[in-house]
Amino acid sequence: MKTTQVTDGIYRLSANIEDVLFEDIWAIPNGMAMNSYIVKGDKAAIIDGVCDWDGVPETLYEQLDQMDLDVKDIDYVIMNHLEPDHSGWFKSFLKLRADVTVIASEKGVELVKHFYGYDGDVRAVKHGETLDLGDGRVLLFAEIPNVHWPETIATYDTKSKTLLPCDAFGSFGSVHDAMYDDQLTPEQVDFYEQEAERYYANIVGPFSPFVQRAVEKLADIEIKIIAPGHGIVWRQDPGKILNDYIRYASYAKGPAKTDVTVLYASMYGMTEMGVAPVVEGLESEGVKVHLHKIPETDWGDVIGSVWQSSGVVIGVPTYEYKMFPLMGALLEEIGRKKALYRKAFRFGSYGWSGGAQKELDEIMARNKTNWDFLEPVEFRGVPTQVDLDLIRRRGKELAVKVKGWVAQG
Ligand code: FEO
Repeated sequence: MKTTQVTDGIYRLSANIEDVLFEDIWAIPNGMAMNSYIVKGDKAAIIDGVCDWDGVPETLYEQLDQMDLDVKDIDYVIMNHLEPDHSGWFKSFLKLRADVTVIASEKGVELVKHFYGYDGDVRAVKHGETLDLGDGRVLLFAEIPNVHWPETIATYDTKSKTLLPCDAFGSFGSVHDAMYDDQLTPEQVDFYEQEAERYYANIVGPFSPFVQRAVEKLADIEIKIIAPGHGIVWRQDPGKILNDYIRYASYAKGPAKTDVTVLYASMYGMTEMGVAPVVEGLESEGVKVHLHKIPETDWGDVIGSVWQSSGVVIGVPTYEYKMFPLMGALLEEIGRKKALYRKAFRFGSYGWSGGAQKELDEIMARNKTNWDFLEPVEFRGVPTQVDLDLIRRRGKELAVKVKGWVAQG
């Protein structure tokens, strides 16, 4: 990976992670970029860093070498956000350099101690405070709590009008030769938009009200460049990722797109018999369907689909007097991600007592999802033709509701 210049006095250092689960849970089939930035005035600051996985901090140091910057010449380590995908490298940095000044929010300072045991010069900054690096370069700090953790701040370079917001405005997806939006083909723009949407749903989604507050807080500053902690740097059209994030945040309470996600689990194929009819009903109204079998589909993909869908169909049978457990666990996670106010429908098979519907109702109530369900279709064993026709009609009915909701905005 090569060091590149974002703009005069700001340099990007980056490392891709691949073939791992991010946060040890989220699949990243297209990898993920960890971005760090050097900002130079008379003094030099490094803003955020990389994780501590094997070889990753070393990638960062190699990129410092490329720009002839020794770790001893770094005056400030600015930790916008303490999650170890950005701060993990600090352990290895301390072996090279024991006496640096660390800057973080008041809450961030607590984690510098608890994560890294560092009791050197650690300075807490508040919203609106500045740091003068000399040579006309003054950094301004903005508190953007819960995007992604409570301690998060964004750093703004007043000279170049560059915003360095860490997780905010980031995406999944490794970054290679094209690192800036002005270098991307239209296909690459689409790729990073899809990666950003899934990243948002998987990582940032539950904090959507805080994303909206952060955008409001930042509205008063002129932003020419957005340089996030993950993904592409936006210097040609920063408004694109800003508006995308406003849109993603709005999906939390919906409506989202005119899409419907169909999730189904089926132990012996009886519940699965309802999938084709419900999809037929949905597609007869022209809505886009995202179809996922559980547990085969990765949770991150499912949550990405649900986030962008205004409607959800759940095909799930009863299992031991409750719901098929892997669907239950997934729906709990969807609830925790706060994909709220969806139009929804459930169908499924049972053998003896049933129980899937009761547990579904409990999960929805516990997570306060406010999903608006059509009347479910349950059948004992194999669905009859009457059941299948009713499922098809429910699919069509759901699609009509979704379209009406999206049209109303
Ligand atoms: Fe990229 Fe919340 O860390």
